[in-house]
Amino acid sequence: MPIIAPSLLAADFLNLKDECTMLNESEADWYHLDVMDGRFVPNISFGPMIIEFIRKATTKVCDVHLMIEEPEKYAAQFKNAGADILSVHIEACRHLHRNIEQIKSLGMRAGVAVTPHTPVSALNDILHDIDLVCLMSVNPGFGGQKFIPYTLDKIKQLRKMIDERGLKVHIEIDGGVTVENAASIIAAGADVLVAGNTVFKSADPKKTIAQLKKL
Ligand code: DX5
Ligand code: ZN
Repeated sequence: MPIIAPSLLAADFLNLKDECTMLNESEADWYHLDVMDGRFVPNISFGPMIIEFIRKATTKVCDVHLMIEEPEKYAAQFKNAGADILSVHIEACRHLHRNIEQIKSLGMRAGVAVTPHTPVSALNDILHDIDLVCLMSVNPGFGGQKFIPYTLDKIKQLRKMIDERGLKVHIEIDGGVTVENAASIIAAGADVLVAGNTVFKSADPKKTIAQLKKL
């Protein structure tokens, strides 16, 4: 069964407590938290202060996706805010290995996120040091975009790289995941589904989460 990680970017922030209660009562496994700085991506979302509040509202895994430049400056702040998993973008890290070591030494699981134009082969040398690859299936910055189909090929390539080495790295797909395309994403080899609009804009979010979980 896939791990379901609803992205709170699509949540109603005026009713954040209710949204958290809904997720806690649902079959969702992780909270996916999208941090944007207006520099790495053309949008600004929220930072550690909001995550600190969310942390108090749940015992589920907080999976923090940093879409920011110079993530090494903020890793400790996100740890203190309650992040369990911290992902940084390969495109934002000049010294990716150092960044990954920092995240792990702070006691978090480490992830590497890649945008659609970055080939999975770029992960070749870092793969055995990380817990998760966040494979972006839209260009980062906004929720509600359309899934880019060639992501399916990238998932298959990455699954092969991971399995050939006997590693246990999660493949998380982020962007444009729907109830309709989720099965093909899982079939290609992904095991974590991020879903923002599909969950939060649905008439029955808990039911939608259960549908994704059943795949
Ligand atoms: C986009 C974010 C995604 C986003 C997904 O930059 O990383 O996590 O919230 O939203 P949906 O599922 O609506 O495409
Ligand atoms: Zn994300």
